Amino acid sequence: MSENNTRVHSEFVHDVFSQIAGRYDVMNSVLSFNQHKFWRKFTMRKINVHPGAKCLDLATGTADWAISLAETSGADGHVVGLDFCQEMLDVGEVKVKRHHLTDCIELIRGNAMDIPYPENTFDYVTIGFGLRNVPNVLRVVEEMKRVVKPGGLVVSLELSKPTWPPFRALYYFYFYRILPFIGRLVVGKAEPYKWLPESLIEFPDRFALAKLFAEAGLEHIEHYALTGGICALHIGRKPQPK
Ligand SMILES: C[S@@+](CC[C@H](N)C(=O)[O-])C[C@H]1O[C@@H](n2cnc3c(N)ncnc32)[C@H](O)[C@@H]1O
Repeated sequence: MSENNTRVHSEFVHDVFSQIAGRYDVMNSVLSFNQHKFWRKFTMRKINVHPGAKCLDLATGTADWAISLAETSGADGHVVGLDFCQEMLDVGEVKVKRHHLTDCIELIRGNAMDIPYPENTFDYVTIGFGLRNVPNVLRVVEEMKRVVKPGGLVVSLELSKPTWPPFRALYYFYFYRILPFIGRLVVGKAEPYKWLPESLIEFPDRFALAKLFAEAGLEHIEHYALTGGICALHIGRKPQPK
């Protein structure tokens, strides 16, 4: 993608999330039939965050994953939630306060394409439902690998493409036809919820994303299909220096 297209893409995505920020959490539960809570719990079990861990959650949005990471890493840990949309972060700030986690979580405005930290800073670098929205997936995974410590984990939880054809047909009908309609009913606008299915068209499937993790230099890559492949979890480890 050219520099100009990257900028246009980023501005478009930013506008989508600034329009829906106030309703994002409700819509997440409605549109995923609350499945996103199960996906997040499954992920937290798999990555086994240790007390005192230093974590970075990219595209943190309204901070759900940052909050889970902070609850698990505890008072000795530290979590940075990064997002380029201030409206999403504002909703996140309220939730962080409500959970009494202001000492453990720092929410910052920034771009996942250029992470504003030096290499080898974090034990875990996560991104939840964010990779699908960025202009260059490999670039973001490479950035995640750069800032994670050797032996640390890079983790993505993201929507994916179901593989069983009858289920895929049913899911695509819901995703492309029903979901923008529900979006219009709840948020008053269908446009932001047309972006959701559009963003999945070009996005790599579960196996292609695992290859991108390998291309970025991660090892011990694991990936899991969740809810019939609607969602996928990818985990990769940064190698120790030779
Ligand atoms: C679908 S929301 C996911 C929010 C949250 N991670 C969750 O699990 O609910 C996607 C988020 O990615 C953010 N985002 C998209 N592209 C980004 C980028 N290049 N840099 C930082 N944030 C980005 C959006 O602002 C939005 O908050």
